[in-house]
Amino acid sequence: MRAVRIDRFGGVEVLRVEDVPEIGAGRGEVLIATVATSINPVDDKTRSGAIGEFPLPMTLGWDLAGVVVDAGSGELRPGQRVFAMSHQLGTGQGTWADLVALPADSVAPAPTSLTAAEAATLPLIGLTALQTLNWLEVGAGQRLLVAGAAGAVGAVALQIAHARGVRVDALVSKDSQLDFVRSAGAEFATTNPADLPARAYDAIFDTFGAFATEAVVDGGRYASIATQAGPVPDLSARDVATTINQVRADGAGLRELAGYVDEGRIAVRIDSTFGLHRIRAAHERFAERGRDGKVVVTF
Ligand SMILES: NC(=O)c1ccc[n+]([C@@H]2O[C@H](COP(=O)([O-])OP(=O)(O)OC[C@H]3O[C@@H](n4cnc5c(N)ncnc54)[C@H](OP(=O)(O)O)[C@@H]3O)[C@@H](O)[C@H]2O)c1
Repeated sequence: MRAVRIDRFGGVEVLRVEDVPEIGAGRGEVLIATVATSINPVDDKTRSGAIGEFPLPMTLGWDLAGVVVDAGSGELRPGQRVFAMSHQLGTGQGTWADLVALPADSVAPAPTSLTAAEAATLPLIGLTALQTLNWLEVGAGQRLLVAGAAGAVGAVALQIAHARGVRVDALVSKDSQLDFVRSAGAEFATTNPADLPARAYDAIFDTFGAFATEAVVDGGRYASIATQAGPVPDLSARDVATTINQVRADGAGLRELAGYVDEGRIAVRIDSTFGLHRIRAAHERFAERGRDGKVVVTF
């Protein structure tokens, strides 16, 4: 079977489509034939070595949409369309391969309203959005700021929060993103952090290291997912809980996401689609600025 492997860290030239031995499902696992995957910032940073040196060679990839080949003893069945996230850096199990074996509790039926390419855009960004919103404990009628709301994670977080009845505002990088975040449910949107109201938000979801700490209410909650920007400043003197949230594999979360998608609450955005043999071109596209959606790779 084919797999996208690296045996050293570097630019797109280190990506190789290799023939590797076929795998089967282990105990408690589901074996999936991959139909599509997508590229996330972590894949780019892993390939380049920006987030550290991990054992090599490795198969890259976190997102997966495909078809069950071997369901093991779980409730999924062969031939079923599924989607999943693999914590590739934690487990060494990358998804950019023809066959992927994952724990059954990290796999869920794919949204029925999406193609495999569309479903492959969602697992990592959707679970990050969902788990971080749950940590923020922000509910209907409360105020949330999403910093980086036009980005991949930010846009899904904005839409889920809006669907939950949360009053969401958006901080974005460019004027051209303002209409998009308003149409996705933002009440107020700005490119200028100085425009944000002081001590107004019950919760802040920060996707790029904005650290808009003056905007959160005393006693509120502030979550960042931008690991590389460093920790959120200590706000304990104001009784603000802070965290850097790390995404976890979560089949139940994927089922919840599929529900939002099939109800029309989350729209997916694809910038471009590449066949597996063009994996280097896909990474080059990912690195360009001005993308409006995810880069998908099909098998
Ligand atoms: N901790 C975790 O478990 C976890 C999980 C997923 C992702 N992440 C990390 O979270 C970050 C976001 O991921 P993503 O997939 O959503 O990336 P993304 O699609 O690139 O989104 C980031 C967004 O932040 C915006 N942004 C950056 N600097 C800004 C600034 N100064 N002012 C306003 N907006 C700004 C970007 O604007 P432009 O459109 O102008 O670039 C973009 O819209 C990445 O660093 C990723 O590695 C962490």
